[in-house]
Amino acid sequence: MAFLSLLSIVALSVFFHGVTAQTSTTSALPTSTAVVEGLNYLARNAGKKYFGTATDNPELTDTTYTSILENYEMFGQITPGNSMKWDAIEPEPGVFTFTDGDVIAELASSNGMMLRGHNLVWYEQLPSWVTDNNYNATGLTEVIQTHVTTEVAHYKGQPYGQILIHVRHAWDVINEPLNDNGTMREDVFYNTLGTSYIEIALTAARAADPNAKLYINDYNIEYVGEKSTAMQNLIKSLQAADVPIDGVGLESHFIVGEVPTTLVENMQAFADLGIEFAITELDIRMELPETAELLEQQKTDFYTVVNACLSVSQCVGVTVWDWTDKYSWIPSTFPGYGAATPWDDNYQRKPAFDGIAIALEGQSI
Ligand code: G3I
Repeated sequence: MAFLSLLSIVALSVFFHGVTAQTSTTSALPTSTAVVEGLNYLARNAGKKYFGTATDNPELTDTTYTSILENYEMFGQITPGNSMKWDAIEPEPGVFTFTDGDVIAELASSNGMMLRGHNLVWYEQLPSWVTDNNYNATGLTEVIQTHVTTEVAHYKGQPYGQILIHVRHAWDVINEPLNDNGTMREDVFYNTLGTSYIEIALTAARAADPNAKLYINDYNIEYVGEKSTAMQNLIKSLQAADVPIDGVGLESHFIVGEVPTTLVENMQAFADLGIEFAITELDIRMELPETAELLEQQKTDFYTVVNACLSVSQCVGVTVWDWTDKYSWIPSTFPGYGAATPWDDNYQRKPAFDGIAIALEGQSI
């Protein structure tokens, strides 16, 4: 009898509070408490050029998503996650399809946001005609020059449709050229042309748009180690040969609780080369399920990374690799991991958002 009563109390409670009960399971996890201006507003106040995000074309049909994405106070810079890559832009030799890339460029331009072109020469998302045609050095040089020149010229700051793209900022000209041990990645470009492919691409990009900042972008160069040293040596050799190079992109795909401790020291080493750098693809993943402890640690980790950028003036800005867990690349690539961004998949701000805001406000966590 007592058991039945207890059951009915539970049943009534679920009946009257079902929605609340469901919410409270979720809300048992901490959320953002910060009341602040947008992150881009704070970043610019702190002397940075932008706080930005990656985005991708399929997400743009989601109006809740776009209502936050298109807020300049929140994001002052956009990177296309896929639609400016080689397979999207030049799927067949000499056939250029700018449609999806143009959507992102127009989105950036119409909201006054900087545009980071991503990317021109990368071993992934490369159409098979580039890899399978057995180009010799002369042939592949022409292929690179045509691709880089045509794409960079297309997105140069000039009237485009009805809109002037006046805030295009940077290009990831070379993406992920190094192995983790610091040697050159043996892809079709390196195997055919040696390191000269880097000079070929950078030179073509500079000629096509003299005002764009030209970057090499990579991961696992965010901390002191042989890959970062190799990147520094690559930059030095390009500078010695008068090859145009303006910056290095530190991707920064980290794991909660494992953010490197040498971020600032490493950033200073790049700054000492006389170049700028940016955090280009920040996310901090955790092993699921999310817990309050993991979310609090993630808040500290986002704070640490953004604070590192603030502490070195040559760090021009921070870009998250999409801002909501709903569209993060992590779960499909790292099964069992996720929740890597500052907003959850229901667009609620997480403690990670506060970690970023606190750093940008110059406060201590
Ligand atoms: O376009 C095809 C589509 O036709 C097909 O139906 C679908 C089925 O899976 O796949 C689509 O391609 C996917 C593409 O994203 C576009 O959505 C690929 O499978 C998928 O692998 C690809 O993932 C992208 C990944 O780069 C490729 O390496 C991620 O979205 C993108 O976020 C990620 O971004 C990279 C940066 O460019 C460089 N640094 C690392 C970062 C994370 O991997």
